[in-house]
Amino acid sequence: MKYSKIMGTGSYLPEKVLTNADIEKIVDTTDEWIVERTGIRERRVASPDENALTMAEIAGQRALEAAGLEPSDLGMIIVASTTPAMVFPSTACLLQARFGIHGCAAFDLNASACAGFIYGFGIADQFIKTGAIKYALVIGSEVMSRIVDWSDRSTCVLFGDGAGAVLLGPSEEPSVLSTHLHADGAYHDVLYLPLNLTKTPSVESLMMNGSRLFKLAVTILDRLFDETLLANQIEKSELDWLIPHQANIRIIQAMAKKLDLSMDRVTVTLDKQGNTSSASIPIALDGAIRDGRIKRGQLLMMEGFGGGLAWGSVLLRY
Ligand code: ACO
Repeated sequence: MKYSKIMGTGSYLPEKVLTNADIEKIVDTTDEWIVERTGIRERRVASPDENALTMAEIAGQRALEAAGLEPSDLGMIIVASTTPAMVFPSTACLLQARFGIHGCAAFDLNASACAGFIYGFGIADQFIKTGAIKYALVIGSEVMSRIVDWSDRSTCVLFGDGAGAVLLGPSEEPSVLSTHLHADGAYHDVLYLPLNLTKTPSVESLMMNGSRLFKLAVTILDRLFDETLLANQIEKSELDWLIPHQANIRIIQAMAKKLDLSMDRVTVTLDKQGNTSSASIPIALDGAIRDGRIKRGQLLMMEGFGGGLAWGSVLLRY
């Protein structure tokens, strides 16, 4: 039996910081409300010359370097993004061209918003496990600042820009233990980004029923954790780290409580970065690996959820 494992990670955050105090000048809100309801204090915003491709390239290059690999080693590039550089070609194809390589599979995965990275990870894991490919680069890259309505205080305070990348490769030892991907289109109207091709511009702004999504997220993640642990016959006490999607500190705290994990065993980046959608998990993972908090041999659970609704988890021994 072959397994996949994380060979390297990388991430990129734009330089520009937008604090809650800055947002107070744009919409009728307060730092106190944002921190209390979401845990977010500031977020990064891409400059006009940055986009999902430029950020993916830096994060991807860093993951390749960390793994000691070259772009020519790649068998697959997956870019999860709801804010791609173009509708087509895919950001993954544009990235392949920037890397100067030819022929490997390259595609974007945008259907599942914040769960996109976990979906990409799950797909790459399957291809590596079967031996169909050796190395896959899975990236989440988002410029959420370009699809939020900056006059809507209920959404514009939540999001940020950035990219994170993971290089997956083969392993003889069990490393990625299981991936779990789910969706329920019945909840399509809880979080969505309309596309109206009869209008210019055709992409509108992100719409969200925050309180409904909050309740759904807590229920869905609760079930997802049980499913993931049961599938591997693992007790929650064996977990070393939870790397959650960064949507709201209150959701993250509820999930840590469910797993009996203290918050120092949970990666939290949303205070400084907001919700970077499909980039949030690989950015948090990369940060905790690079600063030495996450160590080889530890047991990690990653979870993501977002528009669709779509959600998923990964259990792995790093
Ligand atoms: N500043 C001040 N007041 C605000 C703001 C703001 N920025 N935003 C909303 N309010 C007000 C509302 O108008 C409302 O006022 P009212 O009571 O007078 O009507 C009040 O605050 C409460 O609003 P709620 O929406 O009920 O606030 P809630 O406590 O639910 O917090 C939040 C809102 C933070 C959005 C929360 O619901 C949440 O985090 N939901 C989950 C979001 C999520 O999980 N997203 C992940 C997916 S993202 C993706 O996939 C791209």
